Amino acid sequence: MFSSQVIKSWARRLWAVAGAVNIRAKILGIVLGLVILLGVGLTVFVRQALHRAMHTELEVLAVSVASDLASRSTDLILVNNLYALYDLIQETRQNYPDIRYILILDKDQRPLLSTFGNALPAGLLEANLLAPGERYRLYAFNSPEGRILDAAVPIFDGRAGQMRVGFSEDSITRTVSLVTSQLLLATLLVSSIGILASIFLTWALTRPILSLAQAAQAVGRGDFTQRVERWADDEIGELSDSFNQMITDLQLAAEARRERERLRGELVERVISAQEDERKRIARDLHDQTSQALVSLIVQLKLVESARTKAERAQSIADLREQLRATLNDVRRMAYDLRPGVLDDLGLSQSIQWFAEQCRKNSGIQIHTLIDAACDRLPLHTATAIYRVAQEALSNVVKHSRAAHAWITLKNNDEGVELEIRDDGVGFETPSGAAPLEGLGLFGMQERIQLLGGRFEIQSEAGKGTIIRARVPCLPKEMES
Ligand SMILES: Nc1ncnc2c1ncn2[C@@H]1O[C@H](COP(=O)(O)OP(=O)(O)OP(=O)(O)O)[C@@H](O)[C@H]1O
Ligand SMILES: [Mg+2]
Repeated sequence: MFSSQVIKSWARRLWAVAGAVNIRAKILGIVLGLVILLGVGLTVFVRQALHRAMHTELEVLAVSVASDLASRSTDLILVNNLYALYDLIQETRQNYPDIRYILILDKDQRPLLSTFGNALPAGLLEANLLAPGERYRLYAFNSPEGRILDAAVPIFDGRAGQMRVGFSEDSITRTVSLVTSQLLLATLLVSSIGILASIFLTWALTRPILSLAQAAQAVGRGDFTQRVERWADDEIGELSDSFNQMITDLQLAAEARRERERLRGELVERVISAQEDERKRIARDLHDQTSQALVSLIVQLKLVESARTKAERAQSIADLREQLRATLNDVRRMAYDLRPGVLDDLGLSQSIQWFAEQCRKNSGIQIHTLIDAACDRLPLHTATAIYRVAQEALSNVVKHSRAAHAWITLKNNDEGVELEIRDDGVGFETPSGAAPLEGLGLFGMQERIQLLGGRFEIQSEAGKGTIIRARVPCLPKEMES
């Protein structure tokens, strides 16, 4: 538990250092670290293995040279031919340059003959004495001339003495040092190649990443003209492509948003001017029709007052009633035109029926309605939006579709209310994807529905009629509370 926390805190510290340096330093550090670790490890391992193998080989050589010398010198020792013995050891020394000395002991372990002359190095004699019955004995020691391996073998099973040969270990040291320096040189060479490769690798890696970062900053400032070059056909190339695609999508989305905002502005202007027009129309109607009618009623009243006969008065009163009825109708029609007052009076289903009837009368298109009466219980804002959408869609059918039939369906179910207006007219090319709607009528419908969190769909194709569908998630009025 404690140790894992310590490891974690060390790992965090290490990452704080490693994470702070740039990618080039990271890759360079990793490559160099690995190459050096491998080179040094390999060198140490090879050094040890080589030293062990060469030492074993030297031991075998020393024993075999000493044994050979012992067997060849047996007779010479037995006949005490020291002169020939001396020649033999000199000849052997010449054949093996690594031999540092040869020492022959008699059977009482006293020096008989050696390459040292009279002065035997102190302690050498006792250093490697054979025990009785021993076949050979090896002893390594340090001398002023370097490390020496001393091999002792019995002569004539020890009855004629002992043969001692001292081999220098210099050649082993030399060979091991040579191999070590060659390995270190190779490590240096591989490290240099590693550095060059890492520099190239980091260049190839960081260049596209830096250009991606620059492009991202430009996009952040709203500049969508930037594109990233595809450097290679690999993962970074794919990333560049996806990035470019993302900029294109963002650009399209920004354009679509600007267009929507423009259309919304236009819609607001249009709503305001429509309100103004409506007010002017009402003022005009009040002035031209209602005021005129009231004036003529006053005139008519005067006629009643001035009527001389009973029959004349009755006639004037009848005219007056007729005129009052006409005026009342005018006022009612004006009130009727002030929609959605019609919604309050008739409810949503009747209002749509009424509007469909008006359209049918004006255009001759057969309009079939299938309206769920439960829709009359919808909240007023939803009912108003649905009514306005039905009005605009039906007006479009009348204005543009050249259809023979149109169908209005209004359903209310668990998911909400769904309005569909379908016609069998000429249809039109609908805008695709995220492109904004061009006409204000269609845009206004979409806006109304989306403001209520609903979905608006247009399905149309030239020659195949049009379907407008609006779904608004909502509950009937009673259920809402
Ligand atoms: N039912 C339909 N049949 C055929 N074309 C249609 C239909 N509805 C809409 N369109 C086409 O879509 C266009 C856009 O309609 P939209 O209601 O947005 O604008 P508008 O009716 O031309 O003008 P506005 O509604 O602003 O008075 C229309 O000009 C028409 O070409
Ligand atoms: Mg329209």
